[in-house]
Amino acid sequence: MMGTGNLQPLPPSIQPGQPLTALAPMQDVTTLEFMTVVAEYGPPDLFVTEFFRVHESSRLEKPIVRSIDENKTGRPVFAQLIGEAIPHLQRTVAELTRHPIAGIDLNLGCPAPKVYKKNVGGGLLRDPARVDQILQALREVCPGRFTVKMRLGFDDPSPFYEILDSVRRHRVDLLTVHGRTVKGGYRSAVDYDLIAEAVRRVPCPVLANGNVTSAARAVDILAATGAAGVMIGRHAIRNPWIFSQCRQAFAGEAVTRHTLAEVNGYVRRLFTATHHAHIPEGAHVNRMKKFLNFVGQGVDPEGAFLHDMRRTHSAAELFTVCDRHLLARGSTWFADEPYAGVIARPNCEAPAA
Ligand SMILES: Cc1cc2nc3c(=O)[nH]c(=O)nc-3n(C[C@H](O)[C@H](O)[C@H](O)COP(=O)(O)O)c2cc1C
Repeated sequence: MMGTGNLQPLPPSIQPGQPLTALAPMQDVTTLEFMTVVAEYGPPDLFVTEFFRVHESSRLEKPIVRSIDENKTGRPVFAQLIGEAIPHLQRTVAELTRHPIAGIDLNLGCPAPKVYKKNVGGGLLRDPARVDQILQALREVCPGRFTVKMRLGFDDPSPFYEILDSVRRHRVDLLTVHGRTVKGGYRSAVDYDLIAEAVRRVPCPVLANGNVTSAARAVDILAATGAAGVMIGRHAIRNPWIFSQCRQAFAGEAVTRHTLAEVNGYVRRLFTATHHAHIPEGAHVNRMKKFLNFVGQGVDPEGAFLHDMRRTHSAAELFTVCDRHLLARGSTWFADEPYAGVIARPNCEAPAA
């Protein structure tokens, strides 16, 4: 898919003329299996892989390569890199261009301390001059599309404009702005005004990211920011119909709602898709909990499903909980928005200090 020489236009949206939708890159989540399942419920216009770690001795991580090589969703996949060593970033681009990628994406936002302490991901936002060098170096070697996904800054948005100027100078093809700082984690308020500033400041299309919780919110956020599209992460784990609902909302049509019985079907589909013969049952159930933590935000306002689901150890226990909370209430609507106060990941989604 990636060309050799000429810059390529962005992949068109599934519904011509509509804003773009993208599934956010999420470590341990946006695997081949999850991308496949999401696409069955209505694909996004584009995917971005989990990040490939890039350093002196890095090699392309095979499971992430699989999410590119074995992608049968019919939608393009961008390969995301995290790193700061220019020769190794350039080497990795060369390695990736042998695979059917739609482009290269640079991570300028990961807030995990073990990542940012190495001055990569969100850590790079403390050094806009270094970001400029990296963008220049990647632009030189990316034969096709080169995209960037950034937060607003590290402690505060002070480097934002300088980095936007680098994005403009180095002709980045698509910019995604997650409207929080690194220190803002995952639950601080999203600054859509600064996303709108990015839209005004850079010539390339901008995707708005952060708390796009529903199709209705996507419409509002696009109106508020003027962005070319939305990138959706956690809320696509909760609600895999969100991309087709966005297309309905963008067309001015009524958005199809879904029931807890359908959510039960989604959970079982995910369970089958993520099953591998070599993974012990307990580990598979724990892996499912990573997804169900988000699904539970739409099941009941008390978090009772989450409470019970987190205490399961076997597949049989998990399905008993699903039968009780989803199937037995099968005709109840799945909430359009996450229930306030039902926290998906209490350990890593604490409000920003
Ligand atoms: C479990 C998890 C893993 C993530 N991994 C990545 C990643 O590998 N690369 C990246 O750029 N962002 C990563 N993010 C951030 C998301 O792409 C996105 O920017 C963020 O979740 C905000 O969007 P949302 O409110 O739609 O979830 C991750 C987020 C979560 C929840």
